[in-house]
Amino acid sequence: MQIIHPLADMTSWSREIIASGKTIALVPTMGYFHEGHLRLMRLAGSLADHVVVSLFVNSLQFGPGEDLSRYPRDLDKDAGLAENEKVDILFVPSDKDMYSPEFNARVLVDGITDTLCGKQRPHHFAGVTTVVAKLFNIIKPHYAVFGQKDFQQLSVIRKMVRDLNWDITIVGHPIVREDDGLAMSSRNTYLSDEERSRALCLFNAIRHAKARFAEGVVDAKRLKSEIRDIIATNSGVSIDYISVVDKDTLSAKKEIDSRSVLALAVRVGGTRLIDNCFMASDTEAINRQW
Ligand code: PAJ
Repeated sequence: MQIIHPLADMTSWSREIIASGKTIALVPTMGYFHEGHLRLMRLAGSLADHVVVSLFVNSLQFGPGEDLSRYPRDLDKDAGLAENEKVDILFVPSDKDMYSPEFNARVLVDGITDTLCGKQRPHHFAGVTTVVAKLFNIIKPHYAVFGQKDFQQLSVIRKMVRDLNWDITIVGHPIVREDDGLAMSSRNTYLSDEERSRALCLFNAIRHAKARFAEGVVDAKRLKSEIRDIIATNSGVSIDYISVVDKDTLSAKKEIDSRSVLALAVRVGGTRLIDNCFMASDTEAINRQW
């Protein structure tokens, strides 16, 4: 595996690969790899001849007072983990190369960024779409792999690619969970032992929702209120949102159906955690996910 820092070297490598008729799959990340990231890399390896993983803690997607300065980083460990996954290139651009002092461009996707996480984090998705657009232009991948853990992010990227006619296939990977069901996240490292056990209320809420839907409960308001009660039993946990939305438009649903997604964001102590599930996927499928 090669580690590339300069943007121009990354583009030259990609040009050579493309000229030789081979394909590239990209996995964009902010590093501090866990099993979720590694599974995305494995999926990328099954899609294309070459795998590029980008590692860049993107300042543009963090709001004031968010965790940019304390976001966990460990390049040496990440490089070892990526190497084991047969990644060809770990692309680690510098802040100053990605965002020169004159950098002013933004790629915006309207509509679906106004809801869910976009409400609490108003500039977040513009930061995500802008950096992912830059990575697409620098790396020129045929495929790009994203996790369903960040369900809204995946929808926004799909929409950006469709609306801007990018010839890139976006592939989603199911949520990878810890043994007890907590969705893996680099931010889980912020949790104390006590917070870690409280964080399970997200997965308990998802399990409850799926069981109730299987019993025939389709009233979103009723289900959301039951979930609120489950989460509220934990002290030190506050709810950012509990939403049932259409899987494509992300518009709120009154009646849950096979196209619905339950999306949750809660704060456990100072840590914001998200999780979601497709209501139609059978409980078995959720249990098989990790
Ligand atoms: P990051 O949080 O590092 O996540 C990188 C990719 O891993 C994303 O596609 C995310 O959805 C996926 N991922 C994280 N945890 C996962 C889990 N438990 N199961 C499945 N997939 C998981 O998401 C970002 O970085 C950034 O916003 C980025 C897209 C790189 C743009 O800066």
